[in-house]
Parts: sequence; structure tokens; C-alpha cells
Amino acid sequence: MPTISTSSPTYATVDLSALTHNLTQLRRLLSPGCEIMAVIKANAYGHGAVEVARSLIAQGVTRVAVVSLDEGIALRAAGITVPIVMLGPLFTEQLHDIISHRLTPVISDRALLPTLAQATTSLTTPYPIHLKVETGMGRLGLATDELLNLIDSDQLPASLKIEGLMTHFADSDGPTTVQTEHQLALFQSVVNGITARGLSIPLIHAANSGAAVRYPRSHYSLIRPGIMLYGYHTLPTSIPAPDLKPVLSLRSCIAQMRTIPTGGTISYNATFMAKRPTRVAVLPIGYADGFNRRLSNRGEVLVHGRRAKLIGLVCMDMVMIDVTEIPDAAVGDEVILIGRQGTDQITAADLAEWTGTIAYETLCAIGPRIPRRYRNV
Ligand SMILES: Cc1ncc(COP(=O)(O)O)c(C=O)c1O
Repeated sequence: MPTISTSSPTYATVDLSALTHNLTQLRRLLSPGCEIMAVIKANAYGHGAVEVARSLIAQGVTRVAVVSLDEGIALRAAGITVPIVMLGPLFTEQLHDIISHRLTPVISDRALLPTLAQATTSLTTPYPIHLKVETGMGRLGLATDELLNLIDSDQLPASLKIEGLMTHFADSDGPTTVQTEHQLALFQSVVNGITARGLSIPLIHAANSGAAVRYPRSHYSLIRPGIMLYGYHTLPTSIPAPDLKPVLSLRSCIAQMRTIPTGGTISYNATFMAKRPTRVAVLPIGYADGFNRRLSNRGEVLVHGRRAKLIGLVCMDMVMIDVTEIPDAAVGDEVILIGRQGTDQITAADLAEWTGTIAYETLCAIGPRIPRRYRNV
């Protein structure tokens, strides 16, 4: 069993070859001409946006998407030069910075247009924007008639060009297809309306990961996968999913061991009381690192290839596990929180199930205190 010797005993490993594998799986779904805009918002779902962007771009991805201005600026500062689409809500105060960092804004509100016009008026070529149609997510976007009216109204400044048209599905991973079919029909009616006006928008996009698999009609010119790139999905079990590999694993190590007698308790509020003499190992990871407190007395980890249960409440920086059944467990031993050890595996989806959430949240929550190490083998 490897013993960890590092200044950072708890760390995440991001397997870039698994990322490439997942990208390849997604590409297999696409018809010729349809491309992938990789969604790398929220620090690439916790995997590290810059490294993930570099790796995907090296594999031929030509466009990425983030949510916030800061995410876009950080990618530009790291030397990422491909188009970066900003999916998130925009504020007029941000528009000058968006333009100066060559970020592509998604417009959901026509109130932004005057400032956008002013910020782009001195440019020599029209500045690309994407327009978003709200079709049922109830979040960002222009209503279908509002979008077509905007196009008819000639109120789009000449300094802008509509490079993209998009919508976002609310239920592409849901048990029925009703809502997505409805959203697709609405979106298609807008696409038809635009075509009928003799306008051609180069990038039409709607599909997140779930829709990319389930609704080939939603592929248009780009798909926008996030979660499947990172090796997970939330599709119903009846839908055949691509063969995906989790990209991130999370390791810690045993920091201290003790044996407590029957009746001894562990952690705040003594929610765990030993029913037998219990060997307890302390791990240096806690809820401040995104290791959810709802895992308390519930979650499991792998030690020496065997499952050990979390006991007591997860603390801010530490958590305790029961290693009574793993007699070889010793200080310094590697502990897998997400990943494979021996023949067993714990996934972010398992942690999500134990905490009543989805793998998206589990991955995004892995905090900045946890170093990410990249490997590509
Ligand atoms: C607008 C938009 N497009 C695409 C995605 C990617 O979705 P998924 O991770 O389900 O593939 C997201 C993620 O929430 C999103 O907000």
C-alpha cells in the first residue's frame, strides 16, 4: 500500500486521458460538421479550468464556455486564445471588460444593447454575440417573440454580429421527453423564423450532455457538454449512456490512529458512539474542502482496497473513519475518497447519493484548498 509523502496529503488527481476518452465518446455521437463547445464553468466542474481547457484544445476543441467574467478573464490570462462564450448573466458594468478580453457574450436582455453598441462602435469588424431564447428553463433568455421582434426591429447595432443562437434544456435527463420536446419545438420555431427572414446564424446550439445523447435533433452546429466530459451523467437508467470515465479522483491519508472503547464517542455532538472497541483513523479533509457534512455517519472511503465508514460528524478540516476491520491500516496510508483502490471504486455519484445531490455539485464543491494534480497517461 503506497504511503503518501507530500506536503499536501489530501489532493485530487485529474486524469486528462480520461477527459480525452470522454471527449471521443461524445464526438462519436455527432454528425459531421457539428462541434463541441466544452463547458468549463465553475473551474471546469472542479477539475481546473485552465488545464482542462488546454487539454481539450490540444484535442481539437475550438471553443469553450464559462459563466462569469472572472472565469473568462482567468482563461485569457492563462493564454487561452480560442473563443470563450460567456453563458452567465451579464451586467452593463461588465461589457467593456468583456469586449477588451474578447469574450463572447450571450445576450438575454435587450437592455444591454446600447452599452454593448457603445463598447464596440470603434471596432473595425462587427463583434460576435450569441442570442439566447428562453424556451422553458425559466432562467435566462429572450422570449421567442421578443427575439424575433428584436431581429425585425433593426435595433441590433451594426457593430455587432449575431454569431450564435442558443437555448438551454431544463429536463434533458428527466424521466419523460415531454418538456424537452416542447423546448425543442419552440427553439426550432425561432430557427425557422430566422431562416424565413433570410438570416443565417453560424452557430446554433442547444444540447447539454443529456440532450447530446438523447436528442440528436438538438445537435445543430454545436453541442455544449459539461458533465459527460468529466465522466458522469444523470440520464435515466433506460437510456444507454456513452462509456464514460470519471476524470477526477480524490485522495487523502491517515493522519492519526486511536482505539476507543465501547461507549466512546467521536466528533462534535457525539453522534457516533462505539458499540465495540473501535479503531479510528483521522483524515485531513473536511467540509471546508467540499467534503459534505451530510456524509457524516454515512459516507464510505477506501483503505487498503476495503470500505471504511465515516463516523461522527464531518468537521471543517477533518473526518474520522472506522478501520476496525482493516487491521493493517496505519498512519500515512492512502485513503481514496473518490476513485479506485484494489477492485473497488467510489464515484462522485456515490458521494452525491449519500448526500442527496448530484455528481455536478459534489465535483464543483471540491474546494480551492485541495491541490489538483494532472496526469496524462
Ligand atoms: C447553458 C448551459 N449549457 C450547457 C451546460 C452543460 O450541461 P451539462 O453539464 O449537463 O452537460 C450547462 C450546465 O449547467 C449550462 O448552464
